[in-house]
Amino acid sequence: MDVIHTIEALQARLRIAGPVAFVPTMGNLHAGHLALVRNAREHGNCVVVSIFVNPLQFGPAEDFQTYPRTLDADCAQLEQAGADVVFAPSVAEMYPTPQQIEIVPPPIAGELCGAFRPGHFQGVTTVVAKLFNIVQPAVALFGKKDYQQLFVIRAMVRELNFPLRIIGAETLRAEDGLALSSRNGYLSAQDRQEAPRLYRVLRNIVGQLKSGARDYAGLEGTARQALESNGWRVDYVSVRDASTLLPPAGKVNQYVVLGAAWLGATRLIDNIEVSIDSVGPV
Ligand code: PAF
Repeated sequence: MDVIHTIEALQARLRIAGPVAFVPTMGNLHAGHLALVRNAREHGNCVVVSIFVNPLQFGPAEDFQTYPRTLDADCAQLEQAGADVVFAPSVAEMYPTPQQIEIVPPPIAGELCGAFRPGHFQGVTTVVAKLFNIVQPAVALFGKKDYQQLFVIRAMVRELNFPLRIIGAETLRAEDGLALSSRNGYLSAQDRQEAPRLYRVLRNIVGQLKSGARDYAGLEGTARQALESNGWRVDYVSVRDASTLLPPAGKVNQYVVLGAAWLGATRLIDNIEVSIDSVGPV
């Protein structure tokens, strides 16, 4: 596996590599990222993983400075998982001059997480567009845990005709249901015990939707209360139409139930897709 820090060296390495399957990350990798890498193996000759903590997507009060940088440990895991190339550029390599051209995401990027993290998705679309141009992959893989991010990136690829295919991969969970996330490492032992409640309240909504409940505001309010009464600060719990990410209107076949909430200084997000005519345990 090659660890490459410059665009020039990366492009020289990829010139003879064949179709690339690309996994963009910010590092501090966990089993969810490694599953994406293994999945990527099935979609290209050469698996490229980028590790770049992108300043454009962090707000001024967010954790850009403290976001864990664990390149050596990440590379050891990526080698095991079968990556061929790690692209780990510096901020100066990605932004040699202040970035004046940015990709404006669609209006849905101003809702849900975007309502609480102004500018976040514009930072994501801009860096992902740059990475796509640098790496020129045939396929790129993103986790469904960042559901709104995946939705916005799919829209960007479609509307700007990027010549690649996007694959969304299922969220990996700990045994108690907590979605794997780099930010779980911020949780105190006590908060780690509490953290799976977010998934439980979302599952509860899913169960009720499957039983025919359609009072979305009521479902959201009950979930919010269940979190708040256990010490959470809730940004949102929201039932959405998965095809548009908008609030459901009329008949909906596929919902997604999303939540974002804080435990102490850690913001957790999670979501569950719901096919209304699907059967089986939620
Ligand atoms: O999901 C992430 O890790 C980041 O938002 C991404 C897609 C690598 C862009 O910086």
